[in-house]
Amino acid sequence: MNTNPSSSLLTVPTGALKISEYPYSDINDATQGNHILLSLVIPTYKERDNVEKIVTILSGLLDDAIPDRYELIIVDDDSPDLTWQVAQSMIPDYPQLRVMRRQEERGLSSAVIRGWQVARGRVLGVIDGDLQHPPEVLTQLLHKIENGADLALASRHVEGGGVSSWSVVRRFLSRGAQVLGLIILPSVLGRVTDPMSGYFMVRRSAIAGATMNPVGYKILLEVIGRGNVREIAEAGYVFRERTEGESKVTWKQYIEYIQHLIRLRVSTGKLGKISRKIDFPVGKFIRFGVVGFSGVFVDMAVLYLLSDPTTLGIPLTRSKIVAGEVAILNNFLWNDAWTFADVSMQQKGWKQRMKRFLKFNVVCLAGLIINVLVLNIVYNFLIRNQYIANLIAIAVATIWNFWVNLKLSWRVTDVNK
Ligand code: GDD
Ligand code: MN
Repeated sequence: MNTNPSSSLLTVPTGALKISEYPYSDINDATQGNHILLSLVIPTYKERDNVEKIVTILSGLLDDAIPDRYELIIVDDDSPDLTWQVAQSMIPDYPQLRVMRRQEERGLSSAVIRGWQVARGRVLGVIDGDLQHPPEVLTQLLHKIENGADLALASRHVEGGGVSSWSVVRRFLSRGAQVLGLIILPSVLGRVTDPMSGYFMVRRSAIAGATMNPVGYKILLEVIGRGNVREIAEAGYVFRERTEGESKVTWKQYIEYIQHLIRLRVSTGKLGKISRKIDFPVGKFIRFGVVGFSGVFVDMAVLYLLSDPTTLGIPLTRSKIVAGEVAILNNFLWNDAWTFADVSMQQKGWKQRMKRFLKFNVVCLAGLIINVLVLNIVYNFLIRNQYIANLIAIAVATIWNFWVNLKLSWRVTDVNK
């Protein structure tokens, strides 16, 4: 492998998916990259046979349009076909090219954001790496930004746009997804003709500071939903057929798309606004509470099944320990799949999940001890009514359980493996 430092790989950012403000204020200092206008991210997964061609074409185009004022950032998710290596080998011939190889995280949307996090330009862009997005449209998009748009996207549904030879089924699914999105999240999808587009440019200032939280493929929704995008412009394009490699879209992307819509809807709605104001995840807390409530019924049911004289008649303490643990398992599964889904989806795999479950167990156990302690303190020193004291104890333990699990069991900074 090439060990020349100038062709080394980019370090992958970790932590929250947040784009920083433009880092260069000194306009006379052109050495650090503050001369760069456009940072174009090309996400790739198994695009070995496309990567060389797309870099060549994009470089040629941008060398004409904005020589030396752009950078191409390939973000490859450790493709087994070594796409990143092919890209890396081109760096000596293409000084504007930078390459990132991600090994800890996966997924199209987060790849794009990780790329933007290392970007040096004032305008951040994305284009597919499989040549299905016609490169010529880039200059049109750039013009639109230069003429004042905050976001310029390539659309299949305006004049000059279309798809090459999609089957009726694929067209139907694509439009169906759009209609569904319009119903769930009209404030975002209603602003553009092609919300599924993965070919666009956005001013850094429009998304700097917002923490992105995407699931799956549709990064544009995140940009419009969480960013501060005022003016939007569109340019038509025809979605070309692939000649090399294959699409990574499976049924899973449709499920993720719906999850994404719902999550964006919740966090950009009223509740989300309150959450941001008081800097507390209100929605998660409510979900956590609902799950906790469901645990009470699981606990009761198991206790009945085990200890009731008409059923198994097992001694009370032993029954209660089992019932409590089953309730903890129930709560964990719901919290993992629902309350904290944003985190658990980034940390898949059994080992990771087991780790979260163990942490959750320990935290809940500590919560039980706190519960008993608070009950005694309140009852003996403050309010001599065991039910009110118990309510207060439950409230304190719930807040403890929520907060510590949020910070410990479903921690954002953890990555795969
Ligand atoms: N880094 C990384 N990680 N790249 C990925 C991943 C991933 O997990 N999955 C896909 N890609 C890359 C592909 O290599 C390709 O360059 C691009 O993302 C698009 O993936 P395709 O699998 O080719 O998607 P498509 O042809 O169905 O395109 C659809 O999605 C695009 C992206 O949002 C269409 O909706 C397009 O309009 C849209 O631009
Ligand atoms: Mn494609």
